[in-house]
This record gives sequence, C-alpha cells and structure tokens, in this order.
Amino acid sequence: SKRSLLRLAPVLGAALLIAAIPASAQTVLKLGHVLAKGSHYDVGAVKFCEEIEKGTAGRYKCQVYPASSLGGEREEIEAVQLGTQDFVLTSTGPVGNFVPEIKVVDVPFLFRDYDHARKTLDGPIGQEMLTRFPAHGLVALAWSENGFRHMTNNKRPIVNAADAAGLKMRTMENKVHMEGYRTFGILPTPMAFPEVFGALQQGVVDGQENPIPVILASKFSQVQKHLSLTGHVYSPALLLTSPRVWNKLSDADKKVFSDAAKASVAATRKKVNDDEANGIAQLEKEGMQVVRQVNSASFRDATKPAYVNYAKEFGAERIAAIQAIK
Ligand code: PAF
Repeated sequence: SKRSLLRLAPVLGAALLIAAIPASAQTVLKLGHVLAKGSHYDVGAVKFCEEIEKGTAGRYKCQVYPASSLGGEREEIEAVQLGTQDFVLTSTGPVGNFVPEIKVVDVPFLFRDYDHARKTLDGPIGQEMLTRFPAHGLVALAWSENGFRHMTNNKRPIVNAADAAGLKMRTMENKVHMEGYRTFGILPTPMAFPEVFGALQQGVVDGQENPIPVILASKFSQVQKHLSLTGHVYSPALLLTSPRVWNKLSDADKKVFSDAAKASVAATRKKVNDDEANGIAQLEKEGMQVVRQVNSASFRDATKPAYVNYAKEFGAERIAAIQAIK
C-alpha cells in the first residue's frame, strides 16, 4: 500500500546513500606554500598532489593552498608539526629553528652553482640531514629548491659589497643569513614573507633578497627598482610532512609519497631553470635596472669574519667537505 511504501522511504533512501559512497573512503590532505599560483613552488606542489592521487588510485587526494593562505612558512611548519596541516613546501629559512642539524646549508657562498647544490642535497650529506627530522616531530620527504638569492632595493645599484652598506634589508628569520649579511654592512630586518610586499611598498625597508623565481612570482618589480645578481647564498627548500600522516601509511603508500616528492622536486627545479633563463629579461621589461656584473669577490671577502663563527658552529671540516663536492 501507499502507506507502507511511505514508511519504507527512509530505509530506501539510506540504502541509496550507502550505495553512492565508494568502497574505500578518500583522505584529503592539505599542502601549503607561500608563493603565487604558477610559481616554482606551486608547480612542484601541484605535481606532488597529482602523483599521490594517481599512485593511490584516488584513496589519497591532496589540495594545494598557495599564496600564504595557510600562513607564513614558520606558522605552516608549526602546523605540520602539530598535525593540523599535512604538508608544507618551504624554504630552509625558518627550518633551522626546528631542526638545528640542517642550519649549515644556509651559509652564504657555500654552494658554487645549481649543480653543486643539487648534487650535495641529493647525495649522502643531504640525505643524512633528512634523517634528522623525525626527532623534531617532522618528516622530510625531499630537498626541493628555492634558488640563488639576489638583492633588490630602491636606493642604488649594488656592484660592490660597500654599495650594500647601510641599506635596510628584509631578511628571512634565519640567524645564519643575518650573521653573514651583517658583514656586507646591511641592516638585516627579519620579517615573515607575507609582510614583505607591503613593507617594500611603504618603504619600511629599502630592499630584500630572494631568488629570481620569487622576485618574478611576487611581482617585486612593482615596488623595487634595482636588482643585483649577487647570488650570495643558495636557498634550499624542503617538502615536509607530519609524522601523523607518515606513520599511518602502508609501505607501498610511503613509496608512492616518496616518488611523488621526487617528481615534485624535478618539476620545481625545471621551473627554477626556466625562470633563471628568462626571468631577468622579463624583470627588465617590467622596469627593473639589473646589475649583472657584481663584484662577487668583494662579497666573499666581506663574509670572512662570519666564516670564523660558521667554522665554530658547524665545523670547518664539514663546510670544507661540502665545498669540495664536484
Ligand atoms: O624570502 C623568503 O622568505 C623565502 O625565500 C620565500 C619567498 C618565502 C620562499 O620560500
């Protein structure tokens, strides 16, 4: 009868609902980074998520939160440590505050060029450093890349270290950088990245330093006149996850995540290469004045007193061992 059918309706409805749910539930993970869509970080983040979804046949999905939508890098690392965020793709800028064993990678003029940096981080020295993270409540999936850092400012072209003296420059919240940069005579002003564009625009600082891919993606040409290719330090990045995520994975899924991280790094490095090849001309087109021939020796010489302290803190042999890698 009509009545008994009506009584059955909720039961039928529930049965239909159950049939619509896939056999295994999907876990959605959050990956944050601070740079714009389409940046070298974003390309790597998107690739990572695609590979995870593909490799686990959709059991895991991950969603990219770009442009500091989950906070600055320090905040995002803290959230990953707490387990409220699943992944972060971050520069090493604030990471030394969490994992002191990796601080040495931020020493100015440690790496000669991209090949040297990539080879070191992919090799035994870099891979050993990754094993240090779990003791600090983090899991490092891979070394990724930010790039060689260059100075921009609104006061004058920088050719020699002496030209940088007296400039108020935003730096990362990184003691190793700040100690080195002080030897150039600049006044380091540590600041989280989400505040940097506004600080440059309002003249709170005269300049900042970042790799070409960041200067491009963050539209710094709108608020900075001079770019000097100082390449004073290589800036590594890391793809980090939380032990809460990692320890739940089967061995097969761990392999999928690790392989996805490798694919992500390859995509980011390729974008860094492309930005290095085309970005400087692009920034000139956008109105920046570029100093290509920087007196690099003057910057290296300036850092000598800082190197005395670096040797004390990290060991002269350790620094020399990294610099000797061919
Ligand atoms: O300058 C920084 O803080 C970093 O280089 C950035 C832009 C956040 C990328 O990791």
